Amino acid sequence: GKANIGVTGLAVMGSNIARNFARNGFTVALHNRSVAKTDALLDTHGDEGSFIRTESIAEFADALATPRCALIMVQAGSATDSVIDELASAFDEGDIIIDGGNALYTDTIRREKEMAERGIRFIGAGISGGEEGALEGPSIMPGGPASSYEVVGPILEKISAHVDGQPCCTHIGEDGSGHFVKMVHNGIEYSDMQLIGEAYHLLREVGGLEPAALAEVFREWNEGDLDSYLIEITSQVLAQVDERTGSPLVDVIVDQAGQKGTGRWTVKSALDLGVPVTGIAEAVFARALSSSLPQREAGKSLPSGATNVPLDTGDDFVEDVRKALYASKIIAYAQGFDQINAAKDEYGWDIHRGDLATIWRGGCIIRAKFLNRIVDAYEENPELRSLVEAPYFLSALTDCIDSWRRVVATAVHAGIPAPGFASSLAYYDALRTSRLPAALTQGLRDYFGAHTYRRTDAEGAFHTLWSGDRSEVEA
Ligand code: 6PG
Repeated sequence: GKANIGVTGLAVMGSNIARNFARNGFTVALHNRSVAKTDALLDTHGDEGSFIRTESIAEFADALATPRCALIMVQAGSATDSVIDELASAFDEGDIIIDGGNALYTDTIRREKEMAERGIRFIGAGISGGEEGALEGPSIMPGGPASSYEVVGPILEKISAHVDGQPCCTHIGEDGSGHFVKMVHNGIEYSDMQLIGEAYHLLREVGGLEPAALAEVFREWNEGDLDSYLIEITSQVLAQVDERTGSPLVDVIVDQAGQKGTGRWTVKSALDLGVPVTGIAEAVFARALSSSLPQREAGKSLPSGATNVPLDTGDDFVEDVRKALYASKIIAYAQGFDQINAAKDEYGWDIHRGDLATIWRGGCIIRAKFLNRIVDAYEENPELRSLVEAPYFLSALTDCIDSWRRVVATAVHAGIPAPGFASSLAYYDALRTSRLPAALTQGLRDYFGAHTYRRTDAEGAFHTLWSGDRSEVEA
């Protein structure tokens, strides 16, 4: 018989997804640029289900039942474009191409248009979960037309992770929306990891806890509100002892973080949309700073200044840091969901924020118990202006605020960088503030550029004649 689905691009993610399809009873056509990878997969896992080996795109197209449905798992960028082009040439009208890579959403919008002109249905699908998720059940974020989702949705839902019987896969919205939300997912992933890093740094340097003890702290945290995949694996990484030196592994890893681009894209998009995603931005910049070697070298001898202020490092310090982490995490998610909401308006996507929280509960890298609270919040009020106004989050922030302030103050006094904690607290305080100094900014803009300002007590735009008699005129 013919294959229900095809996978082209059989590196680790592609191979594991292909196996996942096969294990779920689908017949899977396999294609890879070099046949060696296809054969390697069939040698080791060929008995896991029904596979069809193909050597060329023509064979691949021929192996697929119609309408054809193929998933591309190759590197984002030009590699994806060339595979799409080859497939489109071999496919017929109505066939479906799914791009499961970390594509830039604007590329996805373009590709969907180009494919539509050629009669091919194109779906940009964000897929999260790393190697294990791909095999055991990832979180899948497909965009594209709803009519295409009707065809492939059932297959994708079947191989996705499930939480409380619900699949971690749903139609996100039109064209590039799936890749857009996957991008923000990754931005949040950056922020989660940055906050974990700051907590680790403070507990180690100020709290005096060694990695083995910290592994235990994170293991305990994973039993409470912070219960999540990233906290769980933090405990495992901290517990890991280096085989060569016997030191904690974390002490022999070079402290320069890499990044492939999705975090940076999130921030670029947020800048364009005018949405303050300070938590994600600080996380992206912290990675960039860690890799700014000349600057770090130049700054090595900078004085710390007075760090002899009595520090809050008592027994409660661990709990304070936990609360600072939780509160900062709430802010980062609130900002990320704001960005998705702004994109929804900008691009006319019919995105439901509660659905995203639902499909991020399992399979993906940011999976966490906490996402259930976000699901509840949007269920209660789909039009929330910010997550912070949902009753659960308001009360969580209220519970954390004192600890959060103490931790940020401690970090400042101890000279430990905590940009994630500090910027999230600044955002929180800005939201609370009834009169922001933006009024002064407007006054200055009016002074040097006649940019005008609005008044608190009258409609319209006004300008002060700064270089004249300083009277006010209506603009
Ligand atoms: C996921 C991950 C995955 C990958 C990213 C992040 O959701 O499964 O986000 O997509 O790890 O590429 O990589 P960088 O940290 O290199 O940006």
